[in-house]
Amino acid sequence: MAPPEDLPPMTYRFLGRSGLQVSAISIGGWLTYGGYTEQEKAHECMKAAYDSGINFFDCAEIYSDGKSEEVMGAAIKKYGWKRNDLVISTKLYWGTAFGNNPVNNKGLSRKHILEGMDASLKRLGLDYVDVIYAHRPDRQTPMEETVRAFNHLINTGKALYWGTSMWNADEIATAWRYADKLGLIGPIVEQPEYNMLSRERVELEYAHLYREVGLGLTVFSPLRQGLLSGKYKNGIPEGSRLAQNQVEFIAGWWKRTGKEKFDEIIANINKLEPIAESLGIKQSTLALAWVLKNQNVSSAIIGASSAEQVYENVRAVGAVDKLTPEIMDKIDEILNNKPPAVIARY
Ligand SMILES: NC(=O)c1ccc[n+]([C@@H]2O[C@H](COP(=O)([O-])OP(=O)(O)OC[C@H]3O[C@@H](n4cnc5c(N)ncnc54)[C@H](OP(=O)(O)O)[C@@H]3O)[C@@H](O)[C@H]2O)c1
Repeated sequence: MAPPEDLPPMTYRFLGRSGLQVSAISIGGWLTYGGYTEQEKAHECMKAAYDSGINFFDCAEIYSDGKSEEVMGAAIKKYGWKRNDLVISTKLYWGTAFGNNPVNNKGLSRKHILEGMDASLKRLGLDYVDVIYAHRPDRQTPMEETVRAFNHLINTGKALYWGTSMWNADEIATAWRYADKLGLIGPIVEQPEYNMLSRERVELEYAHLYREVGLGLTVFSPLRQGLLSGKYKNGIPEGSRLAQNQVEFIAGWWKRTGKEKFDEIIANINKLEPIAESLGIKQSTLALAWVLKNQNVSSAIIGASSAEQVYENVRAVGAVDKLTPEIMDKIDEILNNKPPAVIARY
């Protein structure tokens, strides 16, 4: 399925203060590729992404116990894409599925970082990744060991840059303190959740890091796993992510959220529909364009279970300018969750 002719051209943003450029919309394999989206469909999504100008593909060792990396690696091979045209990332932390004794297969020890990287590259069928992330902070391994191990991956050509995911501002600053002290490379990018319903970390907690270390952001779940597309306004559509009860994480998510809280979230999201309509765009486009409006975001990593979704989501790139200050204020009024402004000086 070729891209629609009226698809806006992709835009590219620098990954923080690095020289690497990533597409403003990128695509990841969590739950979908190697998971509930069958391989052929997953490859169609990746092809639709590539054909739309998306150059950045995100994975992790834990996604579907390594199958996600295999599915992504197979697509790269199948379509014969040039390695230098792609930005590929994966993440290390949860490698428990790859050993019989979990103790040393989890976390950010030098041992797991080195062994986990080799195993990921093998599954991806690649010689290196562009960005390797620490998928979570490891509060038991000394930070110096972790910083040195990620630098070792860079020095041995297995990764070109390293970043963090779901680290707090203090942990990122500590990593930079060690990197600076030791003359090493610090994490250039963080991968947090960021969407209309989850704002505080990106808009408030990390604010000083954009200035101090030039932190870039590749944000995940920009549609809050599909909720912000408005698709759940009349219940749970067949085949949608929330209908995938066989997936442990999704079933658990339901238990944690509860029906009442879920209905409340959906009612709030429904209030955004008239705004999207007034701009002549879909609710999913509005939600993604809202994320891209934040200039600290280098890329919004979407998940997609069909090529149509990929194309629809790429439209957000062309809708950013429709979000005028007045529209942004209206959205803030509905969401009622804008973090307090950072006070510049007293
Ligand atoms: N670092 C971390 O800890 C972390 C955590 C989570 C995710 N991530 C990364 O971020 C990526 C994206 O996360 P996510 O999948 O939660 O992102 P998302 O874009 O918020 O949600 C994706 C899901 O929304 C639905 N969807 C997408 N486009 C749609 C559209 N136009 N209309 C209606 N529904 C649409 C699809 O689900 P269905 O069609 O199946 O309903 C899709 O699988 C992951 O693949 C992963 O790479 C990282």
